[in-house]
Amino acid sequence: MKRLAGKVALITGAAGGLGAEIATLFAGEGARVFVADVSREQGVVTAAAIGAAFLPLDVTSEEAWKNALAAVVGIAGRLDILVNNAGINIRKNIEEMPVESFDAMMAVNVRGPFLGIKHALPFMRAAGGGVIINMSSVCGLIGHRYTNETYTTTKGALTLLTKSVAVRYAKDNIRCNSIHPSTVDTALVQTMLKDPERRAERLGEVPLGRLATIADVAHAALYLASDEAAFLNGVALPVDGGATAD
Ligand SMILES: NC(=O)c1ccc[n+]([C@@H]2O[C@H](COP(=O)([O-])OP(=O)(O)OC[C@H]3O[C@@H](n4cnc5c(N)ncnc54)[C@H](O)[C@@H]3O)[C@@H](O)[C@H]2O)c1
Repeated sequence: MKRLAGKVALITGAAGGLGAEIATLFAGEGARVFVADVSREQGVVTAAAIGAAFLPLDVTSEEAWKNALAAVVGIAGRLDILVNNAGINIRKNIEEMPVESFDAMMAVNVRGPFLGIKHALPFMRAAGGGVIINMSSVCGLIGHRYTNETYTTTKGALTLLTKSVAVRYAKDNIRCNSIHPSTVDTALVQTMLKDPERRAERLGEVPLGRLATIADVAHAALYLASDEAAFLNGVALPVDGGATAD
């Protein structure tokens, strides 16, 4: 029996990076997957490769969320799993960060998941339950010295959005958990990792001595999405080789 057989999943930011790997793994485990992303060109290709559907979605737009969720329920009849994975990072310390960039990061990293949860909850309740997974970061658990304050602020907000949704909606059989990866080798960090000093910093903070892979993180998402994690609710799960244990 596949681990997500019969489940319907919407994953944001799934055109590439971590989201695409999660979409691929979920589809392989029997889920009907909707790849949602602001990037249509890459999203269509990713979705086609795994037999999923592509949904155009800018997570910062409430209207776009309503349309995307209506499309999922219109096509698949239900929504079981929402993965709020889309996120951005504008790498400037607080003194150099333009307020417009702060707002842009808050919009994608916090308003996005807020809107997704707000509009997914009624559909999940109607289906008798559901699973929400929010992609936070080690920066949502600690004041990470190598990361800008705005990113940690957004990811910290997501950590407690997760826990508060978890406690309020458990009565509806809706579980909500967050994942906290250390540095993963994706497009998001490519420029930063080209600098040998930055790369060494990132490797040095991980007791297991390597970067996370997209597979490390996607398998954590698969576990949380599956019924094997039926009693996990409000959990902030580090996938960080021990970085936040140090
Ligand atoms: N890569 C890392 O080191 C790392 C570590 C910890 C947490 N994360 C988090 O994991 C998540 C995925 O990161 P990634 O490394 O795969 O990033 P990525 O840049 O490779 O992919 C992000 C995806 O999100 C999409 N996206 C951006 N803005 C969007 C919007 N407004 N609406 C919809 N989609 C949008 C992009 O088009 C892209 O497909 C993010 O939330 C990120 O903060 C990443």
